[in-house]
Amino acid sequence: MDEAWHNAAMQDESGLIWETRCLGKDYYLLKILAPKISHEAQPGNFVMIRVSPSFDPLLRRPFGILQSQPPYIWLYFQVNGRGTELLKARQSGDRLDILGPLGNSFPALPGKKILLIAGGRGIVPLFSYAKTYAEKQPLILLYGGRSATDLNLLEEISAIPLHKNYIFSEDGSCGEKGLLTSGLEKIINAQRPHITMACGPEAMLAALAGILKSRNMENYVSLEAIMGCGFGVCHSCVVTAADGRYRKVCDEGPVFPMQDIAWPS
Ligand SMILES: Cc1cc2nc3c(=O)[nH]c(=O)nc-3n(C[C@H](O)[C@H](O)[C@H](O)COP(=O)(O)OP(=O)(O)OC[C@H]3O[C@@H](n4cnc5c(N)ncnc54)[C@H](O)[C@@H]3O)c2cc1C
Ligand code: FES
Repeated sequence: MDEAWHNAAMQDESGLIWETRCLGKDYYLLKILAPKISHEAQPGNFVMIRVSPSFDPLLRRPFGILQSQPPYIWLYFQVNGRGTELLKARQSGDRLDILGPLGNSFPALPGKKILLIAGGRGIVPLFSYAKTYAEKQPLILLYGGRSATDLNLLEEISAIPLHKNYIFSEDGSCGEKGLLTSGLEKIINAQRPHITMACGPEAMLAALAGILKSRNMENYVSLEAIMGCGFGVCHSCVVTAADGRYRKVCDEGPVFPMQDIAWPS
């Protein structure tokens, strides 16, 4: 993988929670004053957060950077277990121990027409990409979730100058009814993007890989994995690559060319 993608500017920063917002059931937005990390962050990078002021839980949790506007970064997270329950209880004025920015980023590909494909909270790195590049090149967003309650950032997305925006929900409560993969072929045929970039649940990414493999396109995915350290030491985040070897999501990813991953068939 291109070494230029990697971000070597990791900082351990005490961020200050500036604002918290509950975006409906189970989803939260945090605006954090984190000058050092905000200056270094690239679309696709993530941070490791100590979710409570104590060492319980011991391990930090990984979160993508939704937006970076120095001196602030924004996180958007879904409550998923104990760590995210503790994080949602943190208040503005609290200090948050943050390690980052970590991992590589989605590549900058000037002039290319790119289809961004986001499932649920997988919107995070693609929102960041869209904020960074939408004024410079045609970006199309395909954003899907189970229902309207999983598609919380529509107002913020409408402020980004996207070339085109497609919304899908499985129950039909927002946008077109169905899985976002059901609309993919039609959107590709209509828009003719050169490249796709995707983030979302593993099953969605595997389905995308199946659909896109017969297309002559460049495709990238951002993966989630259970992480211990976030910077290449503990090996808890490995995935199997197409060549049968293991790849660490934290420091070789989280962004990979789609064909480099061994997808379940
Ligand atoms: C690079 C990266 C970026 C991420 N960005 C975001 C983000 O922007 N917003 C967001 O809401 N979440 C994001 N996640 C997922 C987030 O890290 C997990 O939801 C969180 O760590 C769960 O912690 P918990 O203590 O609440 O849950 P736990 O109690 O640790 O786990 C609850 C359940 O979630 C599963 N789980 C835990 N961690 C992960 C994980 N990393 N991936 C998939 N399943 C997991 C566990 O197996 C368990 O079933 C990201 C993960 C990675 C690796
Ligand atoms: S999380 Fe420790 S090596 Fe990747």
